[in-house]
Amino acid sequence: MNESAQTPAQTRNRFAGKVAVVTGSGSGIGRETALAFAREGAEVIVADIDTEGAGRTVTQVEGCGGSAKACRVDVGDADSVREMVELAVRTYGRLDVLHNNAYWAPLDRSVTETSMQEWDRTIAVTLTGVFLGCKYAIPVMIEGGGGAIVNTASVAALAASPRFGAYVAAKGGVVALTRSVAFDYGSAGIRCNAVAPGLIETPATEAVFADPERRAWVTSKLLVGRVGQPTDIANAVLYLASEESAFVTGQTIVVDGGRLIS
Ligand SMILES: NC(=O)c1ccc[n+]([C@@H]2O[C@H](COP(=O)([O-])OP(=O)(O)OC[C@H]3O[C@@H](n4cnc5c(N)ncnc54)[C@H](O)[C@@H]3O)[C@@H](O)[C@H]2O)c1
Repeated sequence: MNESAQTPAQTRNRFAGKVAVVTGSGSGIGRETALAFAREGAEVIVADIDTEGAGRTVTQVEGCGGSAKACRVDVGDADSVREMVELAVRTYGRLDVLHNNAYWAPLDRSVTETSMQEWDRTIAVTLTGVFLGCKYAIPVMIEGGGGAIVNTASVAALAASPRFGAYVAAKGGVVALTRSVAFDYGSAGIRCNAVAPGLIETPATEAVFADPERRAWVTSKLLVGRVGQPTDIANAVLYLASEESAFVTGQTIVVDGGRLIS
């Protein structure tokens, strides 16, 4: 079985002349999505709290002949998110696509074991970060004639997930907020959708995939016979951000190799 995900056809140019902001793009899924947008012609703001990671993504984009600028952002902080959107407009003149993808959550915590600080930070980054991205990007997008927002949710919002209380609550909020934004701003030319990844091989899940037994178990549960890669999510994000999905809004698309239905 092929272990690698399909990379998008490099000849496509769906985002020529468009500007995309991707949060959490200093690593994992966000990095892959930023690269995919840039390969298809977008100018990209690579936004992350980790400036070194963001810098590495920009270097990779430039290595592919693309255009990107790093931005230090804490998506849980309103001023920081507002400045991120301002940077996009100052640098590239407009904003067409926002991929709200950054997250933070403590691992392996039931609700009774979660501290108030952990709960607050999870909600601030993983849910409020999406709210703030929408809040500041939507007016700019409307001014430019419309736009597309793609939020990263999780299958953890759609099915029970063990010992991950704060995270599942935040991601459930992301799914609901996605519908709400789609409803309120559809007539203004804003589409808002979410992608719900299953387990994907990124730095965040390194421990799972480094253990051969756990890797084999995870793979055995997947209908497609291989583990999920960041490219699998990037492909869905680009679809939801592109004109190909012009009739799709308010949706959460599950990208999980069939795990949820099995
Ligand atoms: N990897 C998976 O299995 C999986 C499954 C379901 C959903 N997801 C979701 O996909 C998204 C990306 O996850 P990933 O696996 O690529 O993780 P990752 O750890 O590789 O990347 C997350 C990035 O978010 C950044 N970040 C953290 N706090 C931030 C803040 N306050 N402001 C700005 N950036 C911040 C980190 O620095 C990091 O670069 C997340 O929303 C995650 O919940 C991942």
